[in-house]
Amino acid sequence: MESMTTDRPLRVDNSEDVVRVRQEVRKRATEIGLSLVDQTKIVTAASELARNMLDYGGGGIVTLEIVHNVARRGLRLAFIDEGPGIADIEHALENGVTTGGGLGLGLGGARRLSNEFEIESAPGKGTKVVITRWK
Ligand SMILES: Nc1ncnc2c1ncn2[C@@H]1O[C@H](COP(=O)(O)OP(=O)(O)OP(=O)(O)O)[C@@H](O)[C@H]1O
Ligand SMILES: [Mg+2]
Repeated sequence: MESMTTDRPLRVDNSEDVVRVRQEVRKRATEIGLSLVDQTKIVTAASELARNMLDYGGGGIVTLEIVHNVARRGLRLAFIDEGPGIADIEHALENGVTTGGGLGLGLGGARRLSNEFEIESAPGKGTKVVITRWK
């Protein structure tokens, strides 16, 4: 069974908040002893997802949890917004798909950089993305 400790949620309403998310994720990733490469992976994924929340979701909240199972520790992050949602999730995950003039690499990139990736989204229902990186 996984146990966990949860940090206070971080609000993301502007670019400075995205920087704060990056800093908090780096701090937690260091604390649980993720390698420098894995720290950078989860910080990069977090940055993309927080930026999406801001650009498309009208802002939202990020939660950080240190999760444990018998064998190892990990860092689990949730990105939750109440924006317009995503109609076709598989399509949005493809490289090069963007509705905002970006490169369309963020969402798929975040999935590739994570050990676990879950997304729940529907038009009018907002978007929730949960990622985990295990040590
Ligand atoms: N939180 C969200 N709410 C609503 N739509 C989203 C959200 N996150 C992503 N999307 C949609 O999925 C598309 C793909 O996202 P992705 O991050 O891959 O690309 P991008 O943000 O357009 O460009 P990049 O991240 O490369 O700068 C977005 O263009 C947007 O239409
Ligand atoms: Mg993006």
